Amino acid sequence: MILVLLGPPGSGKGTQAKKIVRDRDWPQLSTGDMLRAAIAAGTALGREAKRYMDSGSLVPDQVVIGLIRERTEQPDAKAGFILDGFPRTVPQAQALDQMLQSRASKVDRVVLFEIPDEELVRRLSGRRTCLKCGAMYHIENAPPEKKDVCGHCGSELTQRDDDRPEIISKRLKVYHEQTAPVAEYYRKQSKLRTLDALKSPDEVSLALAETLAR
Ligand code: AP5
Repeated sequence: MILVLLGPPGSGKGTQAKKIVRDRDWPQLSTGDMLRAAIAAGTALGREAKRYMDSGSLVPDQVVIGLIRERTEQPDAKAGFILDGFPRTVPQAQALDQMLQSRASKVDRVVLFEIPDEELVRRLSGRRTCLKCGAMYHIENAPPEKKDVCGHCGSELTQRDDDRPEIISKRLKVYHEQTAPVAEYYRKQSKLRTLDALKSPDEVSLALAETLAR
């Protein structure tokens, strides 16, 4: 199964992708996580990506397409994978289709997380993440037991640089202008399903499982 999780920043794609990884044998391929890993490693790609990410803009298509091409060739992606945060532009979606076609494969299902912008601002500004183990928290919805300390590995929790209010507004604008048309691209291929991402994480998981079973 090749599954695309599509939706605005903060809609819960990463939260749900991690749950699917626990339940099924498909890796989560998050271009955001890959880019943040490159930044942490101090690579040239990371330094280039940081300029775009810190301002809330998208990293150039060729950079992320290259990352996905390489990552999907790894052995653990043979039986399928979950794309979280890719594709984010129509040219990325077209490149993905071409890449998969050349391997006699295809995108099976695309799930769009629908949610109002006001809730996204609340979720993103309250998000805290553990840089060491990747665990995610929310200061109101899913707070850690001890303030700013990861309950899984004991490391300090941090706020992403792009989760500041002025950058969140830019990311939402970019989503509506550049990523929303990707939903239409997949709707025309009859692959698009939608879910109400305003519901609780467990309710969203249930809706997602039902969508995948259909
Ligand atoms: P990326 O890391 O992909 O960020 P994003 O798409 O903006 O998505 P987020 O990780 O912010 O949100 P999410 O939907 O995963 O929500 P989450 O589960 O974390 O990209 C970052 C940047 O990298 C981009 O701006 C761009 O510069 C670059 N980039 C990445 N991919 C690219 C690409 N393909 N092309 C070009 N550039 C690219 O949840 C958010 C919060 O809400 C958490 O605190 C969580 O606990 C809480 N929450 C989750 N679900 C619920 C729920 N149901 N109810 C209540 N709270 C919830």
